[in-house]
Amino acid sequence: MKNDEIIVSKTDLKGRITYGNSTFLRFSGFDEVDMIGTQHNVVRHPDMPRGVFKLFWDTLQNKEEIFAYVKNISQDGSFYWVLANVTPSLDDNDNVMGYYSVRRKPNPRALQIVSTLYRDMLSAERNAGSRDAIGASTQVLHQFLKEKGQTYEQMVLSLQAL
Ligand SMILES: Cc1cc2nc3c(=O)[nH]c(=O)nc-3n(C[C@H](O)[C@H](O)[C@H](O)COP(=O)(O)O)c2cc1C
Repeated sequence: MKNDEIIVSKTDLKGRITYGNSTFLRFSGFDEVDMIGTQHNVVRHPDMPRGVFKLFWDTLQNKEEIFAYVKNISQDGSFYWVLANVTPSLDDNDNVMGYYSVRRKPNPRALQIVSTLYRDMLSAERNAGSRDAIGASTQVLHQFLKEKGQTYEQMVLSLQAL
């Protein structure tokens, strides 16, 4: 991504895409017609640990925003890293109507650290097997954050400022 680029998408409550800006279309390689209604995991890269998406959805379901480093895959098989800020869209009665994601260029120095962390999480998932995968990688993440004395959000924002 370039410094001034912003990738935007919106989803319904089930993570189906309801909107994507032209930068999203360009990075993902989608046509607008094909994109609407598609599950957002269509850009999920196999290097992304399930434990990250568990934290992601738990945070959103608490009606909180999340900042996350995410590696995405394009239709042509190439990848792009983003720093995503995802927020729940609330109505006047505080009901969640959908979700909104704004992504910008991640700090390349942050990605050296995050890609190693995610690799360790993924490896814990593979060793644990499907049923215990999320628990195993969440443990790796918690241990990493404990050593740093940070929450995931604090880690993300401090790495972005490196
Ligand atoms: C607004 C919004 C944006 C999302 N953006 C991405 C994204 O860029 N990349 C991604 O892999 N998952 C994204 N997700 C999460 C996916 O919906 C999905 O949970 C994730 O890809 C993991 O796939 P799985 O749920 O099939 O395991 C987004 C979800 C929401 C609600």
